[in-house]
Amino acid sequence: MKHSHPSALFRTAVLLAALIIGATVLPAPAATPMEKAFERLEKSYKKLSEGLKSPSESSKPAFVEIARQIRKDAGVAAGYEPKMIATLPSNERAEFLAEFRKDMDQFTADCDKLVAAVESGDWAGTSKILDSLRQQKKAGHKTFRVQD
Ligand code: HEM
Repeated sequence: MKHSHPSALFRTAVLLAALIIGATVLPAPAATPMEKAFERLEKSYKKLSEGLKSPSESSKPAFVEIARQIRKDAGVAAGYEPKMIATLPSNERAEFLAEFRKDMDQFTADCDKLVAAVESGDWAGTSKILDSLRQQKKAGHKTFRVQD
């Protein structure tokens, strides 16, 4: 039999190679400023949670630094508009944004409480606030984040 056309196998291999090269070479979509702020916040959050497994008076200054960083990044994230807004009809955007800002106000207020709890060495209180922040993350992502 004459092979004037590339075989199905060959075409599949070329397609696969193209996909692999594409995925390797093409840049991922740039993180939004909000994503960057939340990514920093997440690292700090993990550090603090980890540290709280064996809290001590001597680690307090480091914990305070981390808590302040969390509060700072919460404020940064709150200053941007979620990507999801672009997917909504324009007559729904104002309400969406108002809801987002209300929830982020609550979140940043709780980050203030986090800083205060850490400053006073109240580790049980700190853990409770971290739990609450995690719940808010879950709810916030469900409501305001584009699902991928
Ligand atoms: C402990 C608290 C939180 C952590 C650790 C956290 C973590 C993250 C991370 C790592 C991202 C970027 C990567 C990704 O999309 O998965 C992100 C994105 C996002 N988060 Fe959170 N988050 C927290 C709380 C919240 C809260 C309270 C809200 C809203 C009330 C929220 C809304 C969003 C939105 C809207 C995005 C997408 C950013 C965009 O649209 O540009 N997050 N978060």
